[in-house]
Amino acid sequence: MRIYTTVALAASFNLATAATTADWRSRSIYQIVTDRFARTDGSTTATCDTEDRQYCGGTYQGVINHLDYIQGMGFNALWISPITYQVEGETGYGEAFHGYWQQDLYRLNPHFGSEDDLKSLATELHKRNMYLMVDVVVNHNAWNGSASSIDYSKFNPFNKQEYYHPVDWITDWSNQTDIEDGWLGDNTVPLADLDTQSSFVQQEYHSWISSLVSNYSVDGLRVDTVKHVQKDFWPDFNSASGVFNTGEVLNGDPSYVCPYQEVMDSILNYPIYYPLIDAFKSTSGSINDLVNQINSVKSACTDSTVLGSFSENQDNPRFGSYTSDISLAKNIIAFTILADGIPIIYGGQEQHYAGGNDPANREAVWLAGYNTSSPLYTHVAQLNQVRNQAIYKNSTYLTYQSWPIYSDTTTIALRKGFDGNQIITVLSNLGSDGASYTLSLGNTGYTNGEKLVEILSCSQVTVDDDGNIPVSMGQGLPKVFYPASQLSESGICSS
Ligand SMILES: *[C@@H]1O[C@H](CO)[C@@H](O)[C@H](O)[C@H]1NC(C)=O
Ligand SMILES: *[C@@H]1O[C@H](CO)[C@@H](O)[C@H](O)[C@H]1NC(C)=O
Ligand SMILES: *[C@@H]1O[C@H](CO)[C@@H](O)[C@H](O)[C@H]1NC(C)=O
Ligand SMILES: *[C@@H]1O[C@H](CO)[C@@H](O)[C@H](O)[C@H]1NC(C)=O
Ligand SMILES: *[C@@H]1O[C@H](CO)[C@@H](O)[C@H](O)[C@H]1NC(C)=O
Repeated sequence: MRIYTTVALAASFNLATAATTADWRSRSIYQIVTDRFARTDGSTTATCDTEDRQYCGGTYQGVINHLDYIQGMGFNALWISPITYQVEGETGYGEAFHGYWQQDLYRLNPHFGSEDDLKSLATELHKRNMYLMVDVVVNHNAWNGSASSIDYSKFNPFNKQEYYHPVDWITDWSNQTDIEDGWLGDNTVPLADLDTQSSFVQQEYHSWISSLVSNYSVDGLRVDTVKHVQKDFWPDFNSASGVFNTGEVLNGDPSYVCPYQEVMDSILNYPIYYPLIDAFKSTSGSINDLVNQINSVKSACTDSTVLGSFSENQDNPRFGSYTSDISLAKNIIAFTILADGIPIIYGGQEQHYAGGNDPANREAVWLAGYNTSSPLYTHVAQLNQVRNQAIYKNSTYLTYQSWPIYSDTTTIALRKGFDGNQIITVLSNLGSDGASYTLSLGNTGYTNGEKLVEILSCSQVTVDDDGNIPVSMGQGLPKVFYPASQLSESGICSS
């Protein structure tokens, strides 16, 4: 982990138990919008029309009751949507069920339960050796009504207009000053932009995050709208939190996004996200663009192995909205979990949800009945399981930087892990109707005659005398190879 910690700050929290960046690297994260994951009453039928943009009833207690469902997929961390007090009631854009319209940093959103409920969630996660990641908004507060109607005294602790930048909507998205000092939102729900250059604002944010992390035993933060705050704000914020931070820098250009990893432990891998979706959302997607971006991110970012690896989230159309093809969905999930970085799967992705742009992509997960037999649920479980096994066998798996050992117009093969403990993932964008063909795959690092297991079909293959593996592709399905000798007593493929 990068050293930002000042002596004074280090003394104020318990570093002995705080999860480090290295700890987080080994984790796999399930992301939820708390309102949409599980209700206290356990209902799997309670209606939730995403177009209404209203609260649907998810709670922390509901989450606690469904931790088996999450852990059953091999996840060992949970990212929950923002917990703070929000704009209450109906606005021109619905209710603040998502949590990104904060008003009072020191009160919880009562819709999800009490302080004790949130503390119980942390306790129950920790009992299972799972981490709690909380989403935080550190750039703005929200209001229902025009910018000129804002009553700043209703905000806490930033209760005076002088703590904010002057009202000025962001208009020039190529002007970084405008992005940082301008306002998001509009006169229906303005997002009042904090003057993060002010030392008062900085100090208030530091003491808030330090007490929030400590009160709720938080292990890590997902930080919203990072590019909307000046870079030099972040090192001290990250340090004051005392835990791992991964930030949202909504941009696809590695040369824009990667420098943020110099001011924060980690960022979400948006540069990979876009070419990843494009490569797999149709059978004509460009594998080559994905290969190039893997290499660009590796060279531009400080450490590709701690970036947040995702293919869906609450802000973007679900993969299933581009194509209902289950093979393509399996490929993109395999990349998400087995490429470099900390895997993040967005609640409902494992049920092949297909909502498009916000708000359609915020479907209630309960409506799929927490089905643990669905094709993508078991797929995610198999992939997390083999990743967890490789980490267990030798944690250097995590710091080995994945690279494309082979690609053609419809196939990409990735290697991650040192000799003897490497996973080879072969992906295709041909889709379920894809023809069968056999690849002879070299550059794997396996030894001649070595026995491998393809863990998605539990079939055995032997490395040939030229060091290649014969890969039988078909129906557009992904293949994941791992040495049979590393699987003993893992339970994977009945070993
Ligand atoms: C939010 O603002 C709209 C428009 O000004 C108004 O009609 C509505 O009543 C407000 N909602 C609440 C909960 O105050
Ligand atoms: C960028 O935006 C800032 C703040 O809105 C403005 O003062 C400045 O003139 C803009 N710069 C350019 C080059 O447009
Ligand atoms: C944490 O708890 C303390 C003690 O109850 C309280 O004073 C503080 O406001 C709480 N902080 C947050 C962010 O809730
Ligand atoms: C769960 O998913 C499996 C596989 O798709 C399906 O056969 C089964 O009917 C589902 N169970 C329920 C209760 O919907
Ligand atoms: C783990 O892998 C590294 C890199 O190949 C190797 O140097 C080390 O000996 C391995 N450790 C164990 C316990 O096998």
